[in-house]
Amino acid sequence: MTSNCKAFRARILHFTDIPDPSAGQGFEYYDDGVLVIEQGLVKQLDSAKNMAAGGFDLSQCEHFPDHLLMPGFIDSHIHSPQTDVIVSYGEQLLDWLNKFTFPNELKFSCREFASQKAEEFIDILLENGTTSAMVFTSVFAQSTDAFFDVANKRNMRMMAGKVMMDRNAPEGLLDTPKQSETECRALIEKWHKVGRMRYALTPRFAPTSSPEQLAVAGQLYRDYPGLYLQTHLSENIQEVAWIKELFPSAKDYLDVYDHYGLLGTRSVFAHGIHLNDREVQRLADTGSGIAFCPTSNLFIGSGLLNMQRLEDAGIPISMATDVGGGTSFSLLRTLAEAYKILQVQQQTLHPLKGLYMATLGNARSLMLDGYIGNFETHKEADFVLLNLTPNRLQRARQAVANSLEDTLFALMMLGDEMNVDRTYIMGKLAYQRHNSEQGE
Ligand code: GUN
Ligand code: ZN
Repeated sequence: MTSNCKAFRARILHFTDIPDPSAGQGFEYYDDGVLVIEQGLVKQLDSAKNMAAGGFDLSQCEHFPDHLLMPGFIDSHIHSPQTDVIVSYGEQLLDWLNKFTFPNELKFSCREFASQKAEEFIDILLENGTTSAMVFTSVFAQSTDAFFDVANKRNMRMMAGKVMMDRNAPEGLLDTPKQSETECRALIEKWHKVGRMRYALTPRFAPTSSPEQLAVAGQLYRDYPGLYLQTHLSENIQEVAWIKELFPSAKDYLDVYDHYGLLGTRSVFAHGIHLNDREVQRLADTGSGIAFCPTSNLFIGSGLLNMQRLEDAGIPISMATDVGGGTSFSLLRTLAEAYKILQVQQQTLHPLKGLYMATLGNARSLMLDGYIGNFETHKEADFVLLNLTPNRLQRARQAVANSLEDTLFALMMLGDEMNVDRTYIMGKLAYQRHNSEQGE
């Protein structure tokens, strides 16, 4: 092994496709596996036995015999300025925005504050095993610049954008179509495709953008190849009714975005709970994605996503926390709430499918699977080391787990950031839990 190489020996799980649990396909699991990394990229993955038989010296590995090593989690929709308003009491979407979210986002006009909060936000992502995310910053361009600065220094694969909003919010939080065009262009030219950074156009949602501003978003989307677009869609019943008043000539909510050219394979619409059949078909026809935000949908009381309906239509669905509407940064917690939302609709979420969605599935939905999502050779080595038994309850439950699937189901349903012992970005240790055991 050369000096640029590192090797990790642990239980290892990753996905190669949508898992088919009954056929045992779409995933690879090693009870005792070795992941070799060279210059931040995956070089090799195999069982310790095969590696040793091929002449590899296992004593070079950092050894975590009881840990589960997995690709880092990917969060397809989250708000960096909302860490401090997480679990704000008692309101549904529109009142929650006015009462808690907008006042807090005003603080991000200060660059220094925005920088500190970006550092803290990324520390919390890493503590939760999240290595990539698609992020709403705030309306203030300097807060977006600060976010990219921090994410770039940490070398994380991130998509983010300045929120565009020019109406129906407090005066101090509004931009104008012209201002958002100028500021977005400057941010795109400074950050898009720099290192692991990608720019995501971010009109907050149709109610807070004028038709002129949505037209600017459409123009920018056409002007710069490879940009992403993120916004909210059909989250809450009152919101949908408001769209009818604000855009009386649109066929429905999605049609507003469609009219301005905002649909496509790089477009991610958060929520999509209350969609009509035409909207579902149109999302599918354009390859546009839906970000499923279970803890948020329950916490702000928005509704239950019929995931099966969207999947059957062929819409790419990704998993997201939507903090601060969501109540946890943990993708494991998020999967547990997704499972319950599906249960009450007589649908289900197999643990292999859930963990696939949080890794390779989200990478695919976000068109990032050429870079991240699993341990294919040459992919970027972002990964987590999970402790399956961080507390008494999980120790008790895991002691009776009688299959890999049962072990993973207990992890998915009971797990959270307490299970994340270490997080690595391109092979480098980026987070370590204080009480985590040393490698042997
Ligand atoms: N719709 C418009 N803005 C927001 C937001 O910040 N959070 C959520 N959950 N929905 C929104
Ligand atoms: Zn959101």
